[in-house]
Amino acid sequence: MASVHIELPHHTYAIQIEAGLLSLAGQRVWDIVPHGRCALVSDRTVSALYARPLADSLEKVGFRVSQVDLDAGESHKNAASIERLYRGFLEDRLERSSPVIALGGGVVGDMAGFAAATYRRGVPFVQCPTSLLAMVDSSVGGKTGFNVPEGKNLIGAFHQPELVLIDPTVLRSLPRRELLCGIAECIKHAVIRDPSLFEWMRENAQSILALDDAVMVELIERNVSIKAKVVMEDEKEHGVRAHLNFGHTFAHAIEATAGYGEILHGEAVALGMLAATRASVEAGLCEEGLLDSLEVLLDAFGLATSSDLPENAILEEAMRHDKKVIDDRIRLILPEALGRITIRDDLSPVCVRSGWDHIRQH
Ligand SMILES: NC(=O)c1ccc[n+]([C@@H]2O[C@H](COP(=O)([O-])OP(=O)(O)OC[C@H]3O[C@@H](n4cnc5c(N)ncnc54)[C@H](O)[C@@H]3O)[C@@H](O)[C@H]2O)c1
Repeated sequence: MASVHIELPHHTYAIQIEAGLLSLAGQRVWDIVPHGRCALVSDRTVSALYARPLADSLEKVGFRVSQVDLDAGESHKNAASIERLYRGFLEDRLERSSPVIALGGGVVGDMAGFAAATYRRGVPFVQCPTSLLAMVDSSVGGKTGFNVPEGKNLIGAFHQPELVLIDPTVLRSLPRRELLCGIAECIKHAVIRDPSLFEWMRENAQSILALDDAVMVELIERNVSIKAKVVMEDEKEHGVRAHLNFGHTFAHAIEATAGYGEILHGEAVALGMLAATRASVEAGLCEEGLLDSLEVLLDAFGLATSSDLPENAILEEAMRHDKKVIDDRIRLILPEALGRITIRDDLSPVCVRSGWDHIRQH
C-alpha cells in the first residue's frame, strides 16, 4: 500500500492507495471515524458498480449505512442535488459524528463534501474517488461545492476529509475519455512541479493506458504527493495553489467557445497547457523544446493537440469572463521550464494569440 499524508495547521489526514482497497474500506474508515451510522453518497453509474462491495465492507465492521445516489454528471452538480443529500441525511437521522463517505468522481466528491461541511455545521468526511481526476486532484485539498446558473463552483466551502481511500482497480470501468482527462491533470502536475514524473510518464505511457496495478499506484501516489505539497503550502488558494490552474485560462475559453459538454474539461486543459506553453515561448520565457516535449507526451496518451476552434476574437471575449482576469488584464500561468512556473499578466496580445493559433486546426 502507498500512503501520502497531508499535514495542515489544524488537521492531518492520510491518502491510502492500494489495489482492492474498496473491499477493505470499512475497517479503514472505522479506525478513523468509528460511529453507528454513516452516509454513502454516490452517483447512479458508480453506485451500480461499486456501492455494494463498499457498503458490505462498512456494514461488516458495524456501520449502519444510509445510501443516497445522485444523478450522474456535471449538469446535476446543483442545489437540487445538495438538497437531496440533506433530506437523505435528515431522514436517516445522521448525527454530528456520522461520517459522510463519497464514492464517485469529482462531481460526487465536491457535492458530498459540501453537504458534509454544512450538515449540522459540519460532519466527518471520507473520500473514495473513482475517476482518475478525482484520485489525483479533486479528492485531495478540501475544496467542495456546486454549480449555480451564474457559474461553476460558485457556492462552496473548504472542508478537509478525515481520510481518502483510493482503489485504482475501479478505473477499469472508467470510460477511456474520462481516463484521459485524469491523465491530462497528471501531465499538468508533472509540468508545474516534477520533471522526473514527466519523463516517467513518457516511459510508462503504455502501462498506464493498460492500467497496470503497480504502475497506477505509483502514478497516483506521485500525483497526490504533488497536490498534497501544493495544498500544504497554500491551503486556501492565496498563492502557489494557483499554479494548479496551468492551462486553465485557455481551457475555459476553449470550453466556452466549443460549447460546454462538447469538449471535456481535461481535454481542454491538455490543449490549454499547449497554448499557454506556446505563448510562453513566444514571450521568450521558455525554450521551444518544452513545447515539443509536451506535445509528444500528450500524443503518447492519445490526447488531442489541436481542435476545431474559432478565431481569436472569441478567445478574448471568453477570457474576459474568466475569473483570472484582473483589472482587464489576462493573468496567465506559464511554464519557464519543466517544474518551474511563473504568473504573468503582461503578455502582449500577439503572444496570447500565438498560443491560441497553435491549437487551432487549420
Ligand atoms: N475540489 C477540487 O479541488 C476539484 C478539482 C478538480 C475538479 N473538481 C471538480 O471535479 C468535477 C469533475 O470530476 P470528474 O471528472 O471525476 O467527473 P464526474 O464525477 O462527472 O465523473 C465522470 C463520469 O465518470 C463516471 N465514473 C466515475 N468513476 C467511474 C468508474 N470508476 N467507472 C465508471 N464510471 C465512472 C461518473 O459517473 C461520470 O459519469 C468537476 O465538477 C470539477 O469542478 C474539483
